[in-house]
Amino acid sequence: MSKPSSQTIEFVRRGAVVTLSNVPPTRTLLEVLREDLGCTGTKEGCGEGDCGACTVVIGQMQGDTLSFKAINSCIRLAHSVHGLALWTVEDLTADPLLQPVAQASVTAPPGLHPAQQAMLECHGSQCGFCTPGFVMSLFGMYQNHVASAAAIETANATDATTPARAKPISRALAQAELSGNLCRCTGYRPILDAAQQMANYPKVALDELRLKARLAQIQPRPDAHPGYQLPASLPELLAARAAQPGAQLVAGCTDVGLWVTKLHQNFDAVIDLTRVAELRRIERRADALLIGAAANLNEAFAALVAIWPQLASFAARFAGLPVRNSGTLGGNVANGSPIGDSMPLLIALKSVILLASVRGEREMPLEDFYTGYRQNRLAADEVLAFIKVPLPPAGATQDLLRAYKISKRYDDDISAVCLALNVGLADGRVHSVSIGAGGVAATPVRARQTEAALHGQPWSLASVQAAMATLRAEFAPISDMRASSAYRREVLGNLLQRFWLESQGAQQIKLESFTLEALA
Ligand SMILES: Cc1cc2nc3c(=O)[nH]c(=O)nc-3n(C[C@H](O)[C@H](O)[C@H](O)COP(=O)(O)OP(=O)(O)OC[C@H]3O[C@@H](n4cnc5c(N)ncnc54)[C@H](O)[C@@H]3O)c2cc1C
Ligand code: FES
Ligand code: FES
Repeated sequence: MSKPSSQTIEFVRRGAVVTLSNVPPTRTLLEVLREDLGCTGTKEGCGEGDCGACTVVIGQMQGDTLSFKAINSCIRLAHSVHGLALWTVEDLTADPLLQPVAQASVTAPPGLHPAQQAMLECHGSQCGFCTPGFVMSLFGMYQNHVASAAAIETANATDATTPARAKPISRALAQAELSGNLCRCTGYRPILDAAQQMANYPKVALDELRLKARLAQIQPRPDAHPGYQLPASLPELLAARAAQPGAQLVAGCTDVGLWVTKLHQNFDAVIDLTRVAELRRIERRADALLIGAAANLNEAFAALVAIWPQLASFAARFAGLPVRNSGTLGGNVANGSPIGDSMPLLIALKSVILLASVRGEREMPLEDFYTGYRQNRLAADEVLAFIKVPLPPAGATQDLLRAYKISKRYDDDISAVCLALNVGLADGRVHSVSIGAGGVAATPVRARQTEAALHGQPWSLASVQAAMATLRAEFAPISDMRASSAYRREVLGNLLQRFWLESQGAQQIKLESFTLEALA
């Protein structure tokens, strides 16, 4: 266990500021909740961000508005909630800031939150391990999709007796937002029903004005204080990094959290970069999308999907919602796992990364960043600050961009192979090509030999088949629990063929084209 930190943690819970002292930097939020605060409603299942039993919801100011996110408390460090609002499953009936706003068509007994009432009435409440996590994911969904809509409708209502009704939650939305909650008894249908039922109960609204006032009472952490640092600006972050190059840098902690819970690592000094305002920004410039390293995976992928809508299903397959809510794009890139999902895509998009330190900034193509298995060119005093993704020139079509993820499970799984292809055609020939691959080498890589095999060739089955052979021979992937070397090679070539078929208009080869109903 790391040494207790002299810094206090302050956060808002049930309408009041909670203050905790002597919390070691690597104590998890789940440990604090269950062991220090006695809130055992939040459960520990896997301890590694996979099952969702530990889900809690955080509220955070983003500019002038509050954002709500379901996160995994098991891999989140407790100090990271300093200055935020927090709800556990116990709080839904105990938070005085959550109040019914109007009557609606379905009556519910007073006390239960609509997320809980819906679980009860739809028979979604099954075992005691998963249910609290499901309820909290439903609560996050409620805050983001039901309460916000109801607040707008209530504000617009002229007659105070008008029921405040929000838009229904679709099945697809419910599935997407529950992607981080596993139920081992496979009782998903009633839980999805509950997600859709929540909006039919009398609305419960959060008193945001009072919450914002409470949040404003919490002071930022003092600068350059050892222990767990939460710098708020880039200069503060760079100064902290220069002063303590040995401190563990963390962002969303969805990789680092597992080093703590599974590898039992302890860090006496942590620098958390998720409050650095400059690094949370995503800016669309004339020639590039500039993504701050601390933008979370949801926000970063949403910005990419807004430009390349064909990436939507790939983006949705990155972990589950609570991991995407915490994890950052910069963390994925800096961590440099050879099976990380964003890097093959960013390499195919010819992204450049910006590294910053008190000495200045430098930039490099992403594929040049990696020097070996989880090794990179980051100096001890540097941070990854921005990822710059070039935009297609005005008028250019980018239809021939695809990213494919091959994993054993469709949802919430790590890639065995990941391949991203970006091909530009002119007069039926390949005039530009960039290909990023994951799961085939010690680092994320660019498939330069295959690019050379395609460049200048007619965009025909014959050229693609020749390039498939090159791609299968270009890397020497390892065999491990996710896939054998032979499988990885085979699938690489198959994905290139699939890419070509899709470019010819074939749709049936996409898993997303099928629905369970159509297959029945
Ligand atoms: C259940 C689960 C599912 C997952 N699924 C996927 C998946 O489908 N695809 C995938 O690719 N990954 C997946 N991951 C891994 C993880 O979520 C990602 O790698 C994530 O992007 C890490 O970001 P983070 O902000 O949490 O990084 P952290 O854990 O905070 O940090 C990771 C590493 O990056 C360093 N770092 C972070 N930010 C910076 C920076 N700005 N500058 C320099 N160094 C920095 C840290 O020091 C640390 O070494 C999954 C993880 C879990 C727990
Ligand atoms: S305990 Fe399984 S995700 Fe946290
Ligand atoms: S609700 Fe826990 S296993 Fe299904």
